[in-house]
Amino acid sequence: MEIIATLNEIKARCRELKKQGKTIALVPTMGYLHAGHISLITKAKELADIVVVSRFVNPTQFAPNEDLDAYPNDPDRDHAATEKAGTDILFEPPANAMYHPDHATWVEVPELAKGLCGVTRPTHFRGVCTVVTKLFNLIQPDFACFGEKDYQQLTIIRRMVRDLNMPVEIVGCPLVRESDGLAMSSRNAYLTEEERALAPHIRKGLLLLKEKAEQGEHSAKNLHAFFAGYIKENIPMARIDYCSMVDKDNLENVETLKGSAVVAVAVYLGKARLLDNISITK
Ligand code: PAJ
Repeated sequence: MEIIATLNEIKARCRELKKQGKTIALVPTMGYLHAGHISLITKAKELADIVVVSRFVNPTQFAPNEDLDAYPNDPDRDHAATEKAGTDILFEPPANAMYHPDHATWVEVPELAKGLCGVTRPTHFRGVCTVVTKLFNLIQPDFACFGEKDYQQLTIIRRMVRDLNMPVEIVGCPLVRESDGLAMSSRNAYLTEEERALAPHIRKGLLLLKEKAEQGEHSAKNLHAFFAGYIKENIPMARIDYCSMVDKDNLENVETLKGSAVVAVAVYLGKARLLDNISITK
């Protein structure tokens, strides 16, 4: 596995590979890799000749009050895991290399970024879209893999690529879970033992909500109230940021389930804010 840290080098190396006729699949990450990230690398290997993984904790997607400085980091473990998964090139620019001090250009999809996580993180997706665009420009991948765990992020990236005619195919990959159902996340590292033991109730609550919907409860309001009640009873110290039933493509709120929808949740538990989602069908 090659490790590349400079922008000029990654650009030149990817151009050279493309000239040789190789296809490239990119897996953007912020490191502290777990099996969810590895599943994206495995998918990328199926798609293209060369797999590039980026490992960069992108400062512009964190608000000043958020966990940028505390974000977990373990370079040695990440290097071993990416190499083992078959990564060809690991791109890990130093913190100050990706943005000029007077960086002034942003990519935004405001329509899709205003709800769900956008309510508490109003500048988050602008940072995500901007860094992903920069990575696409540097690497020029044929494919880029994103996880369905971050459902809003995946939807926004798809729209950005469509609207700006970016020459890359976005590949959505299934959410990978711990054996007890908790969605894998780098931020699970923030949980205490007690919080970690209760966290799988987020998934359980969503599965019960799905069951209720299948049994005929189609009102978003009632389904959300059911989820809130379940969390209150089973993880009393948790606080729900949001529980929303949305259209799977445009993320608009769905009041009454007709056909299919996605229920997305964010739950504060201790120092972590945990995301999960589930597809439901009438
Ligand atoms: P990060 O949280 O490191 O996630 C990198 C990729 O892994 C994202 O596409 C995310 O959806 C996916 N992923 C995380 N947990 C997963 C799980 N349990 N199952 C499946 N996929 C999972 O998302 C980001 O970084 C950043 O916003 C980034 C896109 C890299 C831009 O900075």
